[in-house]
Amino acid sequence: MFDQAAGLRKRVNGVRKSRVIAIASGKGGVGKTNVAVNLGMALQRKNKKVLLVDADLGTANIDVLLGLTPKYHLGHLLNGEKELTEIIIDGPEGLDILPGTSGIEEFLDISRRQVERLRLLSFQLEYSYDIILVDISAGVHSSNINFISICDEVIVVLVPEPTAIMDAYSLVKILHNHQYDGKINLLINQLNSRQEGKGILERMSKVIREYLGIEAEIVGYIPFDNNLRQAVKKQKALLELYPGSRAGQAFDEVAEMLINSRTVNKVEKDNKEGFIGRLLNLFK
Ligand SMILES: Nc1ncnc2c1ncn2[C@@H]1O[C@H](COP(=O)(O)OP(=O)(O)OP(=O)(O)O)[C@@H](O)[C@H]1O
Ligand SMILES: [Mg+2]
Repeated sequence: MFDQAAGLRKRVNGVRKSRVIAIASGKGGVGKTNVAVNLGMALQRKNKKVLLVDADLGTANIDVLLGLTPKYHLGHLLNGEKELTEIIIDGPEGLDILPGTSGIEEFLDISRRQVERLRLLSFQLEYSYDIILVDISAGVHSSNINFISICDEVIVVLVPEPTAIMDAYSLVKILHNHQYDGKINLLINQLNSRQEGKGILERMSKVIREYLGIEAEIVGYIPFDNNLRQAVKKQKALLELYPGSRAGQAFDEVAEMLINSRTVNKVEKDNKEGFIGRLLNLFK
């Protein structure tokens, strides 16, 4: 296995690794899963190869949102029953999806052989995609903080309500307290006016700078849009059904913003293992 991994590493030498971005929030129900799916699709349309990873272990539901019924998930890969190619499902417009698993316990009981298997897999994944978007459960639970910590960047999603704003700040603060050194991006969803969102995010990044001494980049403003609700009901991505809608256009802008923004790639910076390798280290 080690030889195979080394071979793979050699083969892909010089090829850029994926940018792994966590989509997280302090408060639940703010729109993370919809952001992951539509941002993923917007990035695909800009010729980026994207993988969506459902790491929301409580209520894994990227598949439900897209009306897909995966047969297998990460657990089957861990216990050696299935190959990566059998686990990853085809979403709309060539979007690849790694379905979530219901129980975290499956991660806790993996053999050494499986560990090696995952290391190899990690290299495969890391070089097959431009961007990996990881949908994380809401809240500041330590498993969420750990998941975010293994990603290169995080997009903290909030809505214009005091509770969501406070919870988003708490999440950033806790990440900072855990020495998180990835890039922090802020995205506000369900806006009635862009002006309101701009005020909130600019104040928040100022507070983050002054109290925590770190920079957070504003990456987007998504309006409240009934088309999104309609798309959810029809189990399709908003961008598939209503690409010209106000929210659809906003997702396109976020994708453009992310592509043009400065990246910090932990993998390159620290020469660490790939995403799955880091994921695995969480459970050692
Ligand atoms: N921009 C928007 N306009 C209108 N409604 C929205 C918007 N974004 C999200 N919603 C509504 O909020 C609901 C929750 O969205 P979503 O499932 O993406 O949130 P989440 O943060 O992933 O939730 P959870 O924390 O439970 O995982 C959607 O089903 C939709 O009804
Ligand atoms: Mg969700």
